[in-house]
Amino acid sequence: MKPFSKRMPHLGTENAFSVITKAKQFEKESGVKLVYLQIGEPGFDTPKNINDAAKAAIDDNQTHYTPTAGIPALREAIAAYHTKYSAEPYEASDTVVVPGGKPVMFYMINALIDEGDEVIVPNPCYPIYESVTEYLGGKVVPIALKEENEFNFSADELEKLITPKTKLIILNSPQNPTGAVYTRELLWDIAELAKKHDLWILSDEIYDQMVHDGEHISITSIEGMPERTVVLNGCSKTYAMTGYRVGWAVTKNAQMASYIEQFACNDVSCVNVPAQYAALEALTGPQKAVKDMLKAYKKRRDLMVGLINQISGMRCHAPKGAFYLMVNVRQILDKLDIDAAELCDRIMREAHVLVLPGTVFGKFGDDFIRLSYVSTEEQIKDGLSKIKKYIDKIY
Ligand SMILES: Cc1ncc(COP(=O)(O)O)c(C=O)c1O
Repeated sequence: MKPFSKRMPHLGTENAFSVITKAKQFEKESGVKLVYLQIGEPGFDTPKNINDAAKAAIDDNQTHYTPTAGIPALREAIAAYHTKYSAEPYEASDTVVVPGGKPVMFYMINALIDEGDEVIVPNPCYPIYESVTEYLGGKVVPIALKEENEFNFSADELEKLITPKTKLIILNSPQNPTGAVYTRELLWDIAELAKKHDLWILSDEIYDQMVHDGEHISITSIEGMPERTVVLNGCSKTYAMTGYRVGWAVTKNAQMASYIEQFACNDVSCVNVPAQYAALEALTGPQKAVKDMLKAYKKRRDLMVGLINQISGMRCHAPKGAFYLMVNVRQILDKLDIDAAELCDRIMREAHVLVLPGTVFGKFGDDFIRLSYVSTEEQIKDGLSKIKKYIDKIY
């Protein structure tokens, strides 16, 4: 057989999925039922009005191709949604609807990065930014998110990493996995550097509604940024619609919007049409369900933070956004002389709780395990009491 392309070994993946496969295997072999505290998706059903809109679209035979960039009403709703965060109003033509938030990473980075180009990426971070960049022959330049700075970074640290080869900075606020929310000052400084060095920004705002303390601020609120920024967002997290696969890119750069649309045309033709109608209902229909989910997440966050801080050798701060938290377990790792992956494996096998090593999100996650607080309060209490009992025994 002739060999696969030279690019393939550079394509990464989401290791969180392989941890779940291992967990399922463990459950099958041991007969034990695990408590899942690693889940990266909303712990609620999709609101009924949204599902009804998808059903109505099917009954109305909205089951054929649409324009690649999406149905006009949805694009208008997306433009209106992002205009509220932006220094300049967006038009429907500034938006491209794609199957989930993830394709925006793939299409935008593809449109920009040549072999050797550098992309500055916060670390730890969602792993797909790095995977796509390396697949294309680009160089990932990590910027460390430090616990003592609430997982923000500084403009000085950022500027030191910028070289003539830097083309793109990736931002994600609220952030997965740390729950960090970037401050207005940091965004302002990043914008100044982006303009000074003529850099693009990919601003992943998929958790924009999930700010528990304060408010969401987009880098597009700063003048001159909407033209050099692609905003990534979608319905997955806010509306508990991960399986619908509706996301979008928004940018004031017409050439970039056109390239993203061209990629989508080559790749998927258009997004599933009933799902587009569901997304339209999500954006334009009642928002009470979103508020209720947010209230519940905040309560679960506070419960989880309180319980974690009662476990010897573990510590965490209340994250400001998203639905994840990073727990510092360095003391336990040093005492047992193991790494975070091994600790998570032991917690699974001995305490019967699934959590993720911080290293799944990058090398600067090595002191941490990541938990999510999407699970019910009962599951959170159950899981953390099991972890506490196990850690008390070994630590
Ligand atoms: C930071 C971040 N961006 C994007 C995505 C992908 O979203 P989608 O499921 O809409 O592709 C995720 C999913 O976990 C995420 O955490």
